[in-house]
Parts: sequence; structure tokens; C-alpha cells
Amino acid sequence: MPELASRAHLQNIVPVVDAAVKKAGVQLQDVDAIAFTQSPGLIGALLVGAGFAKSLSLALGKPLIAVHHMQAHVMANLINPPLPEFPFLCLTVSGGHTQIVQCQSPYDMKVIGETIDDAAGEAFDKTAKLIGLPYPGGPLIDQYAALGNPQAFSFPEPKVDGLNFSFSGLKTSILYFLQNAGKSNVYKEAFTATEEEKKQFIQTHLADICASVQHRIIHILLNKLQKASQQTGIKTICIAGGVSANRGLRNELTRLGGQLNWKVFIPPFEYCTDNAAMIAITAHYKYLQNDFVKEDVVPMARAEW
Ligand SMILES: Nc1ncnc2c1ncn2[C@@H]1O[C@H](COP(=O)(O)OP(=O)(O)O)[C@@H](O)[C@H]1O
Ligand SMILES: [Mg+2]
Repeated sequence: MPELASRAHLQNIVPVVDAAVKKAGVQLQDVDAIAFTQSPGLIGALLVGAGFAKSLSLALGKPLIAVHHMQAHVMANLINPPLPEFPFLCLTVSGGHTQIVQCQSPYDMKVIGETIDDAAGEAFDKTAKLIGLPYPGGPLIDQYAALGNPQAFSFPEPKVDGLNFSFSGLKTSILYFLQNAGKSNVYKEAFTATEEEKKQFIQTHLADICASVQHRIIHILLNKLQKASQQTGIKTICIAGGVSANRGLRNELTRLGGQLNWKVFIPPFEYCTDNAAMIAITAHYKYLQNDFVKEDVVPMARAEW
């Protein structure tokens, strides 16, 4: 609910900044610059952050730095040593995005593959909704998947050219699969299962459904990542974004990386989901280049980077 989100931002921004400054053990006057997220996101929330950052920068006489949220997810890999060496590929998987980014330096990053429909996080969240789990479904599917058999049910691999992804077909096949109480994942004129049978099927097979869907999502992601590595010759691989907290993905990536001689970098959990440290590290690199913005800067719901 966008309006509730922006109101919550307005309510919380002062206490959150106060708490952060206290926890960091610094004085606001001591910081070198003020950074904020310019895009993408819910515009009402972005406006609160941008307005607050501008005021703070004016009041403290500190330069202002605008950060792109998706670049910041990638940069989360540069927070804690050991740091990946450039060039590297980053698979950024969140609730709104699925991208493979080729990173030549902190100042030269290019999206070489992305989703043409749903994001990987959406595939998790929409599956969760279909099986009656609350939002956000990703972490819950992760938990149930650990108890299930990933080979129990099979879901189709989408056919998408190049390095792009697609997840909407997977969602549809899960829908049909549930409507047929697991007997088929293709469309039938009349679905065979009653609501009661469907519910019963989900209850009995929850862990196996989660494990099988998660297995397919991970497979789709890692297939394209492998293709990107082959095409670019880059073997240093990072991941970022909320979905990179997924234990199945982390384990499979580590296993595949070992097999293919990749150097794999996986940020700690707290830097995978949305966080302010990733905005700060991106701002740090921009600061080194005097990459500042003026007071007339505006946030944008969507923007390229
Ligand atoms: N352990 C997990 N397994 C799978 N998905 C997860 C996990 N933890 C978080 N997610 C997913 O990550 C997404 C949120 O990503 P995040 O980058 O924090 O936010 P946003 O997409 O708003 O930028 C949600 O779709 C959520 O379901
Ligand atoms: Mg995010």
C-alpha cells in the first residue's frame, strides 16, 4: 500500500537516522556527505528520503549524493572483505528485479541480462500466495524447501533467448498444478480438483512443493549465470538482492562455483535484503569521484542506471 509506506517513512525517518548515528558512534557533523536512494522504488517513499537528505545536506553544509538502488545491491559485495576483484558478474535477484550485471569497475557496470516479466522474488512471493503462505513468501518457501524433496514435482524451464529471464510461465504452471491437485501442470478445460482436494494436497505436500519450485527457480537463475560467465569469460561471481538470502541458491551457487572454478562471493544475509549500508558504500565510491547532485535533484519511480 504505497500511501501507508510513505506515511511510515515520514513517521520513522527522524528516529531511524537518530538511532543509526548513535549506533555508529558518530556525530552528524562528522560525516562527509549525505546519500539517498534516488530510484527505483515507490515514489512516495523515495520523496521522503530525498527531501530529508536535501534538508540535512543544506543544514550541515555537506554534499549530496544520489544512489541507484540496483547499483547499490551490487555494491553490497564491496562492504566486507574479502572483496571480489574486478571484473566480476553479479546476479541481482530481488522482489522487483532479476539482473545479471557485468562489473568492470565501481564506475563501469552494465546490465547484460534481465527478466522480461516477473522477478525471481515475485516468483517466490506469488507461489507462496498460491499455496496460502503470507507475504513475503520467499523466506518461508526457503524454510519449507529445506524439509522437502526438490525432485518431487517437475516444473517447466522457460525458453528465453540470450541472458534474459522469464518467470511468469512458471507461476502459471504452478497454478494449474495446484488446480489439478498435483496430477498435471498443464492447462485443462476443466480443472479436476475441488477446493477441498486442492487444500488437502497442499497441506500434505507443502515441503515437497516448496522444494520443487525453489529448485526450478534456482536452476533458471544459475543456468543463465553460467551462460553469462561462458560468454564474457568472467569467473568471479557475486550475488545480491533479497533472493540471494535464499539458502538453496547460496548452496547451489557454491557447489556450481566449485565445479566450474569460479570465485564466488556471497554477501552476509543483512547486506542481501534492502539495507542502508549498500547505499553508503555506493556513495563512498561516488564521493571519491566528486559525483555530487544539486538541490534540484528529484527521485524517480523507475530509471535506468
Ligand atoms: N530466503 C529467501 N528466499 C527467497 N526469497 C527471499 C528470501 N528472503 C527474501 N526473499 C525475497 O526477496 C524479495 C525482497 O528483496 P529486497 O531486495 O529486500 O527488496 P526489494 O525487492 O523491495 O528491493 C522478496 O521477494 C522476498 O520474498
Ligand atoms: Mg532491493
